[in-house]
Amino acid sequence: MNYKFSKYISEDAIKVQIVNTDNVEKFLSSELLKLTKFEGKYKQILHLPESKSVYIGVTKESTIKSIDVWNKVDYYELGANLVNSLAKTNYSKFVLEGFSNTDNSIEVQKENLMRFCLGMYQAAWHLDSFLPENKAKTKKIILSISESDIHLKTLELEKEIDALTKGIILTRELIELPPQVINPSTIGEKINSELGDNPNISITLLDKAKLEQMKMGAFLAVGRASIHAPVLAHIVLTPSKNVKHRIALIGKGLTYDSGGLDIKISGFMKTMKIDMGGAATMFGIIKALSLLKLNHTEVHWISAFAENMLGGDAYKADDILTSYSGQTIEVFNTDAEGRLTLADALTYATLQNPDYIIDAATLTGACMRAVTEYFTALMGNDQELIDSLQEAFIEEQEKTVYVPMAEILREQVQGEIADLINTGKDPSMGGHITAGLFLSHFVDQNLFRNSELDIHSPKAYKWAHLDIAGSVYNKYKNSIGVDGATGQTVRSLVKFIQKIDIA
Ligand code: BES
Ligand code: ZN
Ligand code: ZN
Repeated sequence: MNYKFSKYISEDAIKVQIVNTDNVEKFLSSELLKLTKFEGKYKQILHLPESKSVYIGVTKESTIKSIDVWNKVDYYELGANLVNSLAKTNYSKFVLEGFSNTDNSIEVQKENLMRFCLGMYQAAWHLDSFLPENKAKTKKIILSISESDIHLKTLELEKEIDALTKGIILTRELIELPPQVINPSTIGEKINSELGDNPNISITLLDKAKLEQMKMGAFLAVGRASIHAPVLAHIVLTPSKNVKHRIALIGKGLTYDSGGLDIKISGFMKTMKIDMGGAATMFGIIKALSLLKLNHTEVHWISAFAENMLGGDAYKADDILTSYSGQTIEVFNTDAEGRLTLADALTYATLQNPDYIIDAATLTGACMRAVTEYFTALMGNDQELIDSLQEAFIEEQEKTVYVPMAEILREQVQGEIADLINTGKDPSMGGHITAGLFLSHFVDQNLFRNSELDIHSPKAYKWAHLDIAGSVYNKYKNSIGVDGATGQTVRSLVKFIQKIDIA
């Protein structure tokens, strides 16, 4: 790992002082303030190399009247901004100070410090394994906390920062790694190496023969033309005390999406290594939670891993697939493959009888167009679940928009010669919404008609769907100065699960 917390304040560390517009004069002379125009405003940074110190402003005074809930002071951004601003220097040791010079409660001060550290560590990470050492971009960061703020740095906080950093970096790394490295043949190994040592984690990998026996006809069709056989991963994280809550996390796991026979035009195929971003997100969350430890919440992570390729054996438009749920699906477009793999993964999730099912998927280009590459689209069938997810996202400042799954659009996915079709009939009709509506058919066991599933009292499960097609990977630098895999969503879902755990 490229980061750590240090107990000792090193002589050659650079001092990072957090200041606001009200207290800036306590730290800097009025001549210097005049000269540098530094006022303590949000994201202002004053670097004084002679005294090895840097001042960071945190006061946000919006001149534009805005009701944008995302437009708040964000310490994650501030921490990242610091690392980005000093990118050309050789600093690796930092002493943080000034988090307690505010009217905020100790709890808020701690959260600010935590997010600041997380932001610093994320801005400092880059996938370097294919570069020579002299071109590597990952920065080494050693943090310590000044005497005046030392009461904020508890063991718990340190643990939380470490767990989230490892989780988010794992997510980003998996997404950034190329598809010849991360694919259905190699993912099991990666899961075992990251989680296998933990006695509270069980790992089940269902291979192609098993999936055939179980009749996961939608998932299997998608992966058929690849040299890498599909695999379904089911990971269970057991809490330390009695189970009071059960959550199922489902992540879309297309390790590559060429589009299949409905091949993507070039330019649109590039970056489709990110199509396992949902699975990578859930993987990172499990990693973080396994280090944080839950008391009463059992967490299931289920991902159907496949590669959507072309070949003589490829599935094709006009095929009618029988899903694991028994519902039949007429293929209209082989590039709408994610929902086919998710259909079977969601069906499998219902059989675990969770309180909530949450899926994350790089599902539609329509989502990206509708909400931009910075936002996640949040859909679902349960108001309470949606509300608490939204609360967690807002607290963590990870941008989401709620998108209603308008019932009027359901006919868009209803078939003539099969139960369902895998695209909307009219592509201009909210592709992200019709995809969500399609998925909703696989969390309601009342619609299932595979008698082998042995469901005695069918249940409609509480479910939320996150379309992360945009937010998982940014073409343009985002607000923490990162382009490529963002790791977004990990923090919010960890927060959401931690809240359930103490409820
Ligand atoms: N993986 C893509 C969606 C995607 C596009 C994710 C861009 C991230 C960035 C998905 O499998 C797909 O190709 N969806 C099609 C569905 C259409 C054929 C109904 C799309 O959105 O164009
Ligand atoms: Zn596709
Ligand atoms: Zn896809």
